[in-house]
Amino acid sequence: MSARCYELKQKLDSLHREFTQEIAKAATEQQLRKVFADYGGSAGSIRLAQKDALRSAPNAEKKSIGQLTNEVVQAVEAEFERRLAGLAEEERKRDLERTADVTLPGRKRVLGHLHPITLVRREITAIFAQLGFVVAEGPQIETDFHNFEALAIPKDHPARDMQDTFYVEGHEDLVLRTHTSPVQIRTMLSGAPPVRVIAPGPVYRKDDDPTHSPMFNQIEGLCVDQGITFADLKGTLLHFVQRFFGADFQVRLRPSFFPFTEPSAEIDMSCAFCRGQGCRTCKGTGWMEIGGSGMVDPEVFRHVGYDSEKYTGFAFGMGIDRMAMLRYRINDIKLMFDGDVRFVRQFR
Ligand code: DAH
Repeated sequence: MSARCYELKQKLDSLHREFTQEIAKAATEQQLRKVFADYGGSAGSIRLAQKDALRSAPNAEKKSIGQLTNEVVQAVEAEFERRLAGLAEEERKRDLERTADVTLPGRKRVLGHLHPITLVRREITAIFAQLGFVVAEGPQIETDFHNFEALAIPKDHPARDMQDTFYVEGHEDLVLRTHTSPVQIRTMLSGAPPVRVIAPGPVYRKDDDPTHSPMFNQIEGLCVDQGITFADLKGTLLHFVQRFFGADFQVRLRPSFFPFTEPSAEIDMSCAFCRGQGCRTCKGTGWMEIGGSGMVDPEVFRHVGYDSEKYTGFAFGMGIDRMAMLRYRINDIKLMFDGDVRFVRQFR
């Protein structure tokens, strides 16, 4: 080995030792890569030492100078790779220690439940489904025609009053439906009799006190065929109330008025609290009102193109929320819309 080569080898060995010390100190991948670039990189000190030696060397020695340098570069590269893997492993161990404290108690997942209104709506629809009623739906933003006009609710009817109805701003003929009755119209417009539908869903009115919410839920019923009578209406409602509340409950139809039925009746059932004995809630009458009903007015049939000489029908609309309150003894309708899980959890 020439003196030049010997000198170079000394120099490279010393750089190599330095490198080994430096990478041991590098605590991050970034620091490690910097050390590697400083020594083994294309502008690192090992390459510079090689260049220095080459500059004055005769051609015959250039090969061995190249070889000497390459050996060290390869060794340095190998050490770099090993240290890199070592750092990654250390990092992984730190992560594990940090995130997996196996002594911590597990996190409980809160299970959701069905809302009492959903439970009651499903139960009511199931009862009517067994009588052959199918579920029908309509939009919550309704046209004046479906919500009022076709139901024979004239322009000056109090139900249309700005006080009760939410109108859609800038759209005079659009309202948030004030009842589920427009689904009657949609159903009849979409097909010929016989019809037997039940239509549950939210409705909106400008009402806000302990027993009224501006959004509440109704369930509408409509049955149209040849020979449908008022007795069918009462039989259907009685069947429903006795299935839903109990066999000892009675139904009373009290004369009333709705523009879209003739005759019309208020639906009363035995008071859910005293079962007809008379208590504070029913003001001693033994009855409580759960909705409205009647025989479909020929005027409504005319709007949907049904022949009122051939067909008759009954309709009813009841409050779902009210029935949920009676079923579960809830005294404030707001509780059902507050979204408090502590409330909902009670109906598992
Ligand atoms: N739509 C009425 C209301 O919200 C309730 C009603 C009464 C529905 C009589 C009917 C009916 O289908 O026949 O006050």
